[in-house]
Amino acid sequence: MAGNREQIDYWNGEAGETWVTAQERLDAMLAPISNALIERAGVRTGERVIDIGCGCGTTSIELAGRGAHVWGIDISEPMLDRARSRIGGSKSLAFSRVDAAEADFTPDHDLLFSRFGVMFFADPPAAFRNLHSALATDGRLAFVCWQAPRDNPWVAIAGRAIQPFLSEPEVEPDPKAPGPFAFADPDYVRGILDAGGFTAVELEDFRTTLHLADSLEEAMDFQGQVGPLARALAELEGERREAALGAARNALAGHVTDAGLDLGAACWIVSARRG
Ligand SMILES: C[S@@+](CC[C@H](N)C(=O)[O-])C[C@H]1O[C@@H](n2cnc3c(N)ncnc32)[C@H](O)[C@@H]1O
Repeated sequence: MAGNREQIDYWNGEAGETWVTAQERLDAMLAPISNALIERAGVRTGERVIDIGCGCGTTSIELAGRGAHVWGIDISEPMLDRARSRIGGSKSLAFSRVDAAEADFTPDHDLLFSRFGVMFFADPPAAFRNLHSALATDGRLAFVCWQAPRDNPWVAIAGRAIQPFLSEPEVEPDPKAPGPFAFADPDYVRGILDAGGFTAVELEDFRTTLHLADSLEEAMDFQGQVGPLARALAELEGERREAALGAARNALAGHVTDAGLDLGAACWIVSARRG
């Protein structure tokens, strides 16, 4: 697990805990994307599915509800604990602490599925080669990943506002470094999947509106805890953090309506076959 150590530490630390706390709100916010991905994945009764980076288990539970046998794998113990607490007596669901990049899989799965769980590998081509080994002959892959921050107002508006408060990185950050936006470039994703042995790779440009919160206060509370804004704010303390939060708040205020805060989002819904 050495290659993904940084992400393992990240998702077992505060980030994992905050995702658990925010699970219901995140699920509600991501529902339009989840629904589209599940529909594209076309899961059938009796199929064997791996939900990669399953987190708190929501998509695994939904896929099992459609008759699949689902194995949710993740590196985050707190999120897996939450997922396990939601299984009830279901025999079609199992959750394990497994690094998807390095696990020994058996080639008998029909579908590899992921909602935002595949952009965190230190060596993506190697990770996808390994995932490929889990598929049966006619198996398929369906996952969703974010497009670039600039195409995602739900994160870009506050992100731009806090930029002046963040320290200048000594080296320009690598946009493909493990993280939520690592798979923004469609050619890069195609290259990874080709190298992994997948065929019939397709990226659907999926755009929707996300309901972030019912009010500005709720949005600030939420974005300050979890997601890309929270990741950026983590480096700030005291007055500087307060000033950055104030700037984000002002930037978002202009977008609040009677319905709360609804902002645009852009993802890739990626599908491929084992080949
Ligand atoms: C953005 S969260 C998404 C969680 C969940 N799929 C959802 O939509 O609620 C990313 C998830 O990927 C998991 N993850 C990151 N690297 C992983 C790896 N190498 N193997 C398995 N899971 C991983 C994290 O622990 C985290 O739960």
